[in-house]
Amino acid sequence: MPTAPASWSVCMTGGTGLLGKGMEETAPADCRIVSLHLRDYPVDDPWATHIRADVRDARAVESVFRAERFDAVVHAAGIGSVDYAESHYAEAYTSNIEGTRNVALQCREAGSHLVYISTNAVFDGRRAPYREDAPVCPVNKYGEMKAQCEALVREIVPSATIVRPILMYGWNHLICRQNPVTWMLGKLMRGEVVHVVNDVRENPLYNRQCGLAIWEILRRRAEGTFHIAGRDVVTRDQFALLVAKVFDQDPALVRPVSSAFFPSIAPRPPDTTFVTERMQQDLGIEPLGLEAGLRDMKQRMQVRV
Ligand SMILES: NC(=O)c1ccc[n+]([C@@H]2O[C@H](COP(=O)([O-])OP(=O)(O)OC[C@H]3O[C@@H](n4cnc5c(N)ncnc54)[C@H](OP(=O)(O)O)[C@@H]3O)[C@@H](O)[C@H]2O)c1
Repeated sequence: MPTAPASWSVCMTGGTGLLGKGMEETAPADCRIVSLHLRDYPVDDPWATHIRADVRDARAVESVFRAERFDAVVHAAGIGSVDYAESHYAEAYTSNIEGTRNVALQCREAGSHLVYISTNAVFDGRRAPYREDAPVCPVNKYGEMKAQCEALVREIVPSATIVRPILMYGWNHLICRQNPVTWMLGKLMRGEVVHVVNDVRENPLYNRQCGLAIWEILRRRAEGTFHIAGRDVVTRDQFALLVAKVFDQDPALVRPVSSAFFPSIAPRPPDTTFVTERMQQDLGIEPLGLEAGLRDMKQRMQVRV
């Protein structure tokens, strides 16, 4: 809970998502956070003022910005599921592209520092490791939309910061979509076999570390593009074995398979490992080891029903 009076304010769209939760939990005490989300449910966390507003609705976004001027806006709302975006293109387009346009236009009007949350899915996964200036080359509709959003944001607010988090893990709000750790752990704890692919790799990112990196970007008003990722490069089956080890589950339940095993709708880039030099040098943040991130999760584990 903030202890000092707020001296600056940040609007976080998609604040109930995995990234939003990581940001809210690591927020500086002197910051007021207004967190936007879509669905009708009460949010049980004390770090932010939660408001329902649909970013697809230009008037709804405008009324949020009319009510308050924000020093900064972190725009993370939208459809983040790769397969859902592929099979529900029109809905994902409105949510991701029109939503981003609505938020960016209001930031320009208000002069708020805009941080747009993009993704590693803007790359094809064939030329890893990726630096911030690598040319984008998405292989699915989600990645295409996020690359379009980056261009749109740069056009509307040239001083905006683009943050590309890689695959994230952490404790989510139960009502929001799962992430690799909550999904794997749920299966392991129920004694179920976990099939995980051995041909997709990256350096996974703890949501709280992503939160800390974005707070540092906001504090320094850092511009340009940032790749945010963890220290360790792993395939998903190696990831699952580490989850089993840290959470004292049976590693024999982890079964490596190739991507062909899963009937996924959208193609996936095989290796989007990020170079984190800019995050280290310009933000002073050292990438967290995967085991350290999992151990922190374990420490914060609560009974989840
Ligand atoms: N998770 C990852 O591994 C990952 C990796 C790279 C990049 N990213 C990017 O990071 C951002 C955040 O991802 P996440 O995983 O934290 O998201 P998430 O857990 O899927 O949550 C999505 C958030 O967006 C809100 N939202 C969805 N549509 C909305 C709309 N039309 N208007 C207002 N709010 C809306 C949701 O609200 P409700 O709770 O009300 O539905 C929720 O707060 C996304 O831009 C995603 O592309 C994520």
